[in-house]
Amino acid sequence: MAQEQRPGRRTLLGAAAALGAGAAALGPAGAARAADRTGTRAGAADSEASARTRLPVPAVVAHRGASGYRPEHTLGSYELALAMGADIIEQDLVPTKDGHLVCRHENDITGTTDVADHPEFAARKTTKKVDGIDLTGWFSEDFTLAELKTLRAVERLPKERQRNTVYDGRWEIPTFEEVLRWADRKGRERGRPVWLHIETKHPSYFRGLGLGLEKPLARLLRKYGRDRAHAPNFVQSFEPGSIERLSRLVDCPGVVLLDAADTRPWDFVEAGDPRTVADLVKPEGLAWTARFAKGIGPTLDLIIPRNADGSLGEPTTLVRDAHAKHLVLHPYTMRNENTFLPMDFRRGSDPYAYGDVFGALRTWFATGIDAIFSDNPDTALLAAADFRAR
Ligand code: G3P
Ligand code: CA
Repeated sequence: MAQEQRPGRRTLLGAAAALGAGAAALGPAGAARAADRTGTRAGAADSEASARTRLPVPAVVAHRGASGYRPEHTLGSYELALAMGADIIEQDLVPTKDGHLVCRHENDITGTTDVADHPEFAARKTTKKVDGIDLTGWFSEDFTLAELKTLRAVERLPKERQRNTVYDGRWEIPTFEEVLRWADRKGRERGRPVWLHIETKHPSYFRGLGLGLEKPLARLLRKYGRDRAHAPNFVQSFEPGSIERLSRLVDCPGVVLLDAADTRPWDFVEAGDPRTVADLVKPEGLAWTARFAKGIGPTLDLIIPRNADGSLGEPTTLVRDAHAKHLVLHPYTMRNENTFLPMDFRRGSDPYAYGDVFGALRTWFATGIDAIFSDNPDTALLAAADFRAR
């Protein structure tokens, strides 16, 4: 399977929080059916605002925008995702040297920008330890915003997604504030808000550099009226401490992301907390998370593990257990290409050709999840509509 480098990788609100104890009592399948009937809200109280911000279940989160078709985290990728009808559009955030939040999946900008082609920045290439992993390249925190704005975004997966490379060089790195302004404008134009799913990347690492992410994020959310419980956004992080910190700054729902079972969130590593993701998906771990978050974003494998041959195994009890704690589940990440799909959903021998993605999505939706991250929001939206119409 194709992989991307994930330094310190440890690895959402939708139906369960809105459905509450009634849905939990129904179990995953019942919860999914109830969700089908009621839709999903961003919070508990009925109000004009919550009615306008209702989400379908399962909802589709455009992962880094429509990243299956455009270089990720560009306004082009976000625009296409919105035009496709994505329910929510994701941003990953890292800071610049002068403290601006920009949309990149990681602070190492080597693979997603043309920085290597800029001789004026050649000397900035360096090796750093990020969340315990040595990385060599160029890093967002070594550039001012003005300098980053001279770069252009390129496709991360040129081999898998050669067609996307025609867009290399077209778009700048967007600041998060530019995205908020864009979402505001689009929301006014279409008469309903644009939902965002906003991730803090490497929050402990950046705090250590004096570039903490949570306060500037909270300031921007307040400035654009997105800090309330019913605001059309989620905040997410692989570090539970970042979500806990954000829960004290803003009221919008937090989602704790969960990587593979044997990994530990980086803030746990730094604090000497021995718990692993395997601990966090147990009922006690979920109860702990529910003290400050409204949802979890597990890997798809935590919901349906793969067999030794790479085919899908039997679902775990995670959906039921999380719903029982009133936590929603926004797992990640669906991609249409064979190389990213479980073995039993691959078609033909071309790793970059599309497999039976509708079959795979049907299987995951049947577990009762509340939303799914997908690089191909158009495909996932069709599958979600099929699922609701069944
Ligand atoms: O944030 C959920 C999803 O995006 C998975 O994580 O590594 O792609 O940011 P990542
Ligand atoms: Ca993310």
